[in-house]
Amino acid sequence: MYQYLTHKLRTCLAQRFFSSTTNSLINSRFLHSSPVVTNMSSTAGVVIPCKAAVAWEAGKPLVIERVEVAPPQEMEVRIKVKYTSLCHTDLYFWEAKGQTPLFPRIFGHEAAGIVESVGEGVSDLCVGDHVLPVFTGECGECAHCKSEESNMCDLLRIDTDRGVMHSDGKSRFSINGTPINHFVGTSTFSEYTVIHSGCLAKINPKAPMDKVCVLSCGISTGLGATLNVAKPKKGSIVAVFGLGAVGLAAAEGARIAGASRIIGIDLNPNRFEEAKKFGVTEFLNPKDFDVPIQKVIADVTNGGVDRSIECTGNINAMISAFECVHDGWGVAVLVGVPNKDAVFMTKPINLLNERTLKGTFFGNYKPRTDLPSVVEMYMNKQLELDKFITHRVPFSDINKAFDLMLKGEGLRCIISMED
Ligand SMILES: NC(=O)c1ccc[n+]([C@@H]2O[C@H](COP(=O)([O-])OP(=O)(O)OC[C@H]3O[C@@H](n4cnc5c(N)ncnc54)[C@H](O)[C@@H]3O)[C@@H](O)[C@H]2O)c1
Ligand SMILES: [Zn+2]
Ligand SMILES: [Zn+2]
Repeated sequence: MYQYLTHKLRTCLAQRFFSSTTNSLINSRFLHSSPVVTNMSSTAGVVIPCKAAVAWEAGKPLVIERVEVAPPQEMEVRIKVKYTSLCHTDLYFWEAKGQTPLFPRIFGHEAAGIVESVGEGVSDLCVGDHVLPVFTGECGECAHCKSEESNMCDLLRIDTDRGVMHSDGKSRFSINGTPINHFVGTSTFSEYTVIHSGCLAKINPKAPMDKVCVLSCGISTGLGATLNVAKPKKGSIVAVFGLGAVGLAAAEGARIAGASRIIGIDLNPNRFEEAKKFGVTEFLNPKDFDVPIQKVIADVTNGGVDRSIECTGNINAMISAFECVHDGWGVAVLVGVPNKDAVFMTKPINLLNERTLKGTFFGNYKPRTDLPSVVEMYMNKQLELDKFITHRVPFSDINKAFDLMLKGEGLRCIISMED
């Protein structure tokens, strides 16, 4: 093991030496002619012009633009994005209806890519590594990173209103000198992007990137919300609110945990057919009842479910998800991202009656420490990903992925950067 690690370190150092030597050659050539981007390592240290899908205004189609991507600074890594997908969180901040508007911006946070170059101080990633970016990071030093319980890193936790990098408060993207904002530190709707090294999980290079990219947000979030946070016991009754990719990954977690009944709740009846493939045993549409859905759930479960996981982002669904758990032991977990001004209201007696309310980002997984093993769950066939991938589009058609999600069609749409 020790020999393997020292060999790995030497390989990494050799690669980096090669990349910085080539870089000085490139820089001197750069002075006399236009830059030629030949391969990944030869571009280290220079600005890379490439295509990115830029959101200029809230709710308006993204525009594929030529952007310039600056080299990574201290503790940063520049990656070549291979595949990315659309998560509902991108859509909320693009619509900016219940969120702070910040434009122009490059969205995207669910992706897989390859390290192109690394900035000063990065010692655990090298050129060519396969990585999954994560919207919340792991610095490894703070109290949260050192705690076994938390993944809310002090330095790199999700900050949806930040459009710049931590090291110098600047963007690495520009168009003719105009900076373009980053999104949640990842901005994967670009052929190249710069990410803090603490927000990149190094994964098995044999893992197919066009599939495991969905583990970089939605699927790990739903799975972890059930397995790490709700922790249903074998034989439990579990309710899942919202049967998109995140909710169905939560249902998958309930199935893996041995739940006896999995009740799926959604306003879109088209979701129910798809959800059958994920082990959801019963379906309820709140629109079909004239009493609150928590009352219906209590009636069909003899007082409430053991665990519920909310994956909608809707405040009323969040309240129902809490109020439908059984008194005495029920646990509800909030996963959906609410409107920034939403307020959660329930009678305190619901808590006094020994119900527990929790919330989680990224299913409580520590991105760098835990995500590689979630990828291995897929590689070992313990976790299926194909059934989450319902559509594929080339990068030039990225707006189709938005249309599908707006219409509530399909689960994840993989956007291929090279087609
Ligand atoms: N906490 C985290 O770390 C994290 C990570 C990823 C996504 N999210 C959030 O999880 C949520 C789901 O994401 P997704 O990509 O699966 O979205 P999605 O759009 O694919 O699925 C959401 C589903 O919720 C349903 N829904 C909406 N309002 C509802 C209501 N009131 N009652 C019942 N069902 C309702 C929709 O019909 C849809 O099927 C979003 O809010 C997203 O922002 C959170
Ligand atoms: Zn997401
Ligand atoms: Zn930290």
